[in-house]
Formats: sequence, structure tokens, C-alpha cells
Amino acid sequence: MLLAPSILAADLADLKAALGVCERAGADLVHVDVMDGHFVPNLTFGIPVVRDLARATELPLDVHLMVTRPERLLEEYLEAGASWVTVHWEAATHLDRMAAAIRQFGAKAGVALNPATPIEVLTDILPSLDYVVLMSVNPGFAGQPFLPYVVDKARRLRERIEDRSLHVSISMDGGVDATNIAQVVAAGVDICVAGSAIFGAESPEDAARELRARAEGTAE
Ligand code: DX5
Ligand code: ZN
Repeated sequence: MLLAPSILAADLADLKAALGVCERAGADLVHVDVMDGHFVPNLTFGIPVVRDLARATELPLDVHLMVTRPERLLEEYLEAGASWVTVHWEAATHLDRMAAAIRQFGAKAGVALNPATPIEVLTDILPSLDYVVLMSVNPGFAGQPFLPYVVDKARRLRERIEDRSLHVSISMDGGVDATNIAQVVAAGVDICVAGSAIFGAESPEDAARELRARAEGTAE
């Protein structure tokens, strides 16, 4: 399992400290939530922040674009240093073109589905993707409660990926914490995004290690 702490839940006045937590906690990716105030009500990071984060850490940046018309700035995000780029199915008119552009740049291409969007919309594009992000909250804010019905979506998606012998990862994003991460991983999720469960803890490093232990079934 890859662990991707979402720095949206960290102290945004001290992003360097948030990167330090990710590095010390053995995170695999740094999840960066880009929100445009249109696709989702909230407004967060943009290209200049992604560029500086990429300069400040060796960890790959997993950039989650919660924006309308993601094709407009896709190349800029890639040039800024995004190693993984997620666009929302609900916001993408030319998904195949975007996935191809991301891969051509040498980055990993992912598509996110809002909780209510069925996995069937990805049937045809699945072989062209590196990963699918299943949103387990309605995107827009950190710290929202996990929507349990998304676990079954993950199970069905994993089955379809296996049935077709594809190499596509599944990421789950939103409300993932120590109480649900074991069932999330058991459903076939191999990338776990966690914001509040890590940065809301007294010791974010310990919280990240505990999440991994629970995911791997080695927690005490
Ligand atoms: C939600 C974001 C998530 C969120 C995760 O719109 O995409 O990445 O920040 O934070 P938690 O784990 O607190 O739900
Ligand atoms: Zn996210």
C-alpha cells in the first residue's frame, strides 16, 4: 500500500513542516489538493505552490485537480513538478486526451470519481489509466466523515481490473482513518490518502505509522 498524506489538513502557514512530517513518517506520496472555487466551493493551492513543494521535497507529488476545465493548466502542473496527476471525471470533457498528455509527460495519470459517480463510466478508458481515485467524501474539504458505501465500489472496481488483467491502482480519498483503513485495503485499494487522520493527530508521524500498520494488519 502507498500512503499519501494530504497536506490540506496540515498547518498551511508551514508547508515545509508538513513535508517534513511526510518524509519522516515514510510517506510514499504527498497529496496536494488543488481546488478552484468552481468545481468545489473551496479554494486552495495552485501552480506556484506545487512548484515550490516540488523543489522542497524528493517525494513525488500526487496532485488532485478539483477544478473545472483541468485541460487548461494541465501542462503547467506537470511542468511545475507533479508526478501523479488526477483529474475528475465530472470535470473532464476530453479524458482520453488528458490521460495521454499526462503519460506523455512521464507522469502517472489518474481519474477521480465523486462518491455518487458509478465506476462503469471508466469501463473504456481504464486501460489508459495508471490509477483511479474513489472519493469517499464529497470533494471540497478535509475532515469530512467517510462514506462507507464507497468500499463496495472499490471492491467491484478491483474485481473488474483483475478480470481484465489490467495494471491499475485504486486510491481512496476522504475520511480514511485508523478505524476504516483495514477494510479499505481489504477491498483492493492500494493507495490511501489521509489528511485529518495524520495532521489532526498530536503526533502526525505516529499517526501515519499507525495507519500503515493497520492497513498491513500489523497493528497491536
Ligand atoms: C477532499 C480532498 C481530500 C482531503 C483528505 O476534497 O480531496 O484529499 O483533503 O482529507 P481527510 O483525510 O481529512 O478527509
Ligand atoms: Zn484529495
